[in-house]
Amino acid sequence: MSTSTPSGTPIGIDFGGSGIKAAAVDLDTGDFAGERTRIDTPQPSTPDAVAKVLVDLLDAVDADGPVGVTVPGVVRGGVVGSAANIDQSWIGADASAVFGTATGRRVVALNDADAAGLAEAAFGAARGQRGLVVMTTLGTGIGSALLYDGALVPNAELGHLEIDGRNAESHAANSAREREDLDWAEWADRLTVYYTTVERLLSPDLFVVGGGVSKHADKFLPLIKIDTPIIPALLRNKAGIIGAALHASRA
Ligand code: BGC
Repeated sequence: MSTSTPSGTPIGIDFGGSGIKAAAVDLDTGDFAGERTRIDTPQPSTPDAVAKVLVDLLDAVDADGPVGVTVPGVVRGGVVGSAANIDQSWIGADASAVFGTATGRRVVALNDADAAGLAEAAFGAARGQRGLVVMTTLGTGIGSALLYDGALVPNAELGHLEIDGRNAESHAANSAREREDLDWAEWADRLTVYYTTVERLLSPDLFVVGGGVSKHADKFLPLIKIDTPIIPALLRNKAGIIGAALHASRA
């Protein structure tokens, strides 16, 4: 492949419920090295259907390095272990192998919030932060990443904590705010209960809040009443792609 990015430039791909987005990533600057390309997530979002989209995305992205792909579920050794917001046939599928076979490239898969956490620790809001950082992404679900002195403990599924007899993400994710038309204060009350629970369980030093809604952080973060510092993510919707590329380059 002849490319205009330096040889070995990694690619990050963010597989979400509505779109699959890809870009080459410059790991010196922690930013995209070219245009971002997006294709709608196929419905149903089966492994084969998503793998076909990856082939098209990689055709469009100008880089020849390793490929990292986020998955909105538990990923252990490439194998998907949960599928709350994607097709159930993902459970037990080896995402790294399915994507690698379809694309003919070296592909590593990891949880989407873990990718965002890695990116924020390397280039964003958690850069240089010691101790325990809990990164959460507020979107369709609640994703979480645990970082201790910048090192990731993968596959924390804190969005599925049971609080007051309910699955936390179904009550407090950004999708719940939209679905139930909550105002910022009503949503912040739910988030206070959520973050207080996590605070009691883990005693983190810092919460970082990502997901698309973090661009409105000033409207709801000050209303969350907890003791732990809580700050918005810096890389916003770039974090998954950047973290996936970073993970692929380290793998
Ligand atoms: C999944 C997590 C994922 C999060 C955000 C949750 O429903 O269980 O693995 O990180 O959604 O996509």
